[in-house]
Amino acid sequence: MLASGSGSTLQALLDAAPASSYDVVAVGSDKPAARALERAAQAGVPTFTCALSDSPTRDQWNFALAGEVERHAPDLVVCAGFMRILSADFLTRFAGRVVNTHPALLPSFPGAHAVADALAYGVRVSGVTVHFVDEGVDTGPVIAQAAVPVRDDDDELSLQTRIQDVERPLYVEAIDRLAREGWTVQGRTVRFG
Ligand code: GAR
Repeated sequence: MLASGSGSTLQALLDAAPASSYDVVAVGSDKPAARALERAAQAGVPTFTCALSDSPTRDQWNFALAGEVERHAPDLVVCAGFMRILSADFLTRFAGRVVNTHPALLPSFPGAHAVADALAYGVRVSGVTVHFVDEGVDTGPVIAQAAVPVRDDDDELSLQTRIQDVERPLYVEAIDRLAREGWTVQGRTVRFG
């Protein structure tokens, strides 16, 4: 798994792993101080850091990250609050096996500020999208979605909190099903099994 931040999504996946069809084989981050790395270590999961500042170029960083990921031979590369764009080379190495969760109903509000963008737009419903990662920003085929109503008094924190309450079980279920049932992608349509 790859994570940049607090790792609450990662924690949900770690907590559910014993009763699920997947194992978390390693957790990597671009941020050496990410709380996600502590959570992984506490769960006894190997960790690695691949900071942008350790590589002279972005391409070299992607190459280094791909090497670290490959060492652990994952079946799926699961991004959980990993706030970096992965290069075409990285995605080719793990073709069709990189998954992300995004706190909005894609294709609305892609990018790093999805919750704030949805509030600023004034939508009445936002939500979560679990999707495969392609070369675009949050443009890959959709695996699962769930809606979260926006309340009149919502601010970014309150809406993000309710979105994450829906996101964690949705992501756990999606990863569990991908691992247990497999999947097919026809055009943009993802089906389990
Ligand atoms: C999650 O809500 C995830 O959807 C979002 O970051 C949060 C990570 O929280 N990802 C993105 O916005 C990706 N564009 P966490 O660090 O507590 O797991």
